[in-house]
Amino acid sequence: MKRILVTGSSGQIGIELTPYLREIYGAENVLASARRPVPGPVSEGGPFELLDVRDGKAFSETLSKFKADTVIHLAGVLSAKGESDPLNSWDINVCGSCTALEAARENGCAFFFPSSIAAFGPSTPAKNTPQDTIQRPTIIYGVAKVTMELLCDYYHKKFGMDTRGLRFPGLISYEALPGGGTTDYAVHIYYDAVKKGSYTCFIAPGTYMDMMYMPDALDAVVKLMEADPARLVHRNAFNISGMSFEPEEIAASIRKVMPGFTMDYDVDPLRQGIAESWPDSLDCTAAREEWGFDPQYDLDAMTEDMLARISEQEASKG
Ligand code: SER
Repeated sequence: MKRILVTGSSGQIGIELTPYLREIYGAENVLASARRPVPGPVSEGGPFELLDVRDGKAFSETLSKFKADTVIHLAGVLSAKGESDPLNSWDINVCGSCTALEAARENGCAFFFPSSIAAFGPSTPAKNTPQDTIQRPTIIYGVAKVTMELLCDYYHKKFGMDTRGLRFPGLISYEALPGGGTTDYAVHIYYDAVKKGSYTCFIAPGTYMDMMYMPDALDAVVKLMEADPARLVHRNAFNISGMSFEPEEIAASIRKVMPGFTMDYDVDPLRQGIAESWPDSLDCTAAREEWGFDPQYDLDAMTEDMLARISEQEASKG
């Protein structure tokens, strides 16, 4: 990667990945884009352009003008939000992604696509979910992810395009909140722990999902995109996970730092149903073997850092 366009740069991943890429590749070599203006480091720390990913002509012109060699395509609508307007979710997550993929092909760019644990469904083996297995998701977000995994593999096979992807688990971070996801409880819990000392959880006890701390996700994107293509047996998309836990385990981890923390439950049937259709824990062997996936944070290390960072943020607000 030398000249990179990032879409969805205002989202939970983009807001951290954009500055991370600028550190490595030089601010002038990472063009951030979003549908709406983004205040802060994303638009102030390097080039920024307004771009709707469904506008193929504008997308292609932007890539050509910037002389991009890579597209990191992050724009998308998350799982639970997608269920409230499935056609809009399809429009952005599939039609927008097809436009991005095609614009990347026209301009000879490599393409990164963020797939998800949502690319699996209730008939997938839930424990130690293999890299290659049954993928019959039951929500529109998951159907879109499988579609794009297949299409990205197709573009590689048909056109020789350098497409690569990761199946992200729930991502936990403190710079920007996720919006409308199922794994979001594992972010909200830290904010409420710091602000209120308690949390009401919308996911039921005993529900396991894969998760990862954002620094490990950023590292994984760069490692995958810089990997020697000769080593890649798979491309779209690799299972990755930093940890798997259920709500009682994250609460117990918080109690190690904040002994008085309490949690109760008000389970949301939509998000609970989605969570139950996803794996409990992924097998990440292919990612480790093919490009050296090596996450650093376990649950307790992440908890300590999240609580410290959010406490600092709250203190600076006065
Ligand atoms: N974190 C995402 C969601 O909950 C899964 O990819 O929607």
